[in-house]
Amino acid sequence: MVKRIHILNGPNLNLLGTREADIYGTLTLADIESLCREDCVRLGIEMSFAQTNSEGELVTLIQAAGAAGAGLVINAGAYTHTSIAVHDAIRAARVVAVEVHLSNVYAREDFRHHSYISPVARGVICGFGATGYRLAISALAEELD
Ligand code: DQA
Repeated sequence: MVKRIHILNGPNLNLLGTREADIYGTLTLADIESLCREDCVRLGIEMSFAQTNSEGELVTLIQAAGAAGAGLVINAGAYTHTSIAVHDAIRAARVVAVEVHLSNVYAREDFRHHSYISPVARGVICGFGATGYRLAISALAEELD
């Protein structure tokens, strides 16, 4: 069976490269997409990569991952800390999800310490910048075996 991974990015991640580079690094989202694509090609995984600033669109994209039988790598940005809708969508889609954050959210403000995604994720990777996406792909490649 073909392995598929959908990589979803939430609000403000389109600004990577210029947004708070001291926290999020200097790679753009397009750079991160290229790194992910290289890994997926090497591992024989079909990859889709998307970003949205809208909570409803993120829910729709999660539902699409479920319908495609894909594993999910999700950096939901600030919706991580606020969105019951994203939590419900991951649960309903029955996807294997890896929650990723570029920054170590636990070393930052208290309001970033709670995640609505962690309880419905297989695992969480944070603090390793773009490498976190690559670690998530490699973990999912094994999970989807
Ligand atoms: C983030 C961390 C979130 O707290 C923040 O709202 C983001 C990015 C990260 O990748 O480190 O937008 O998800």
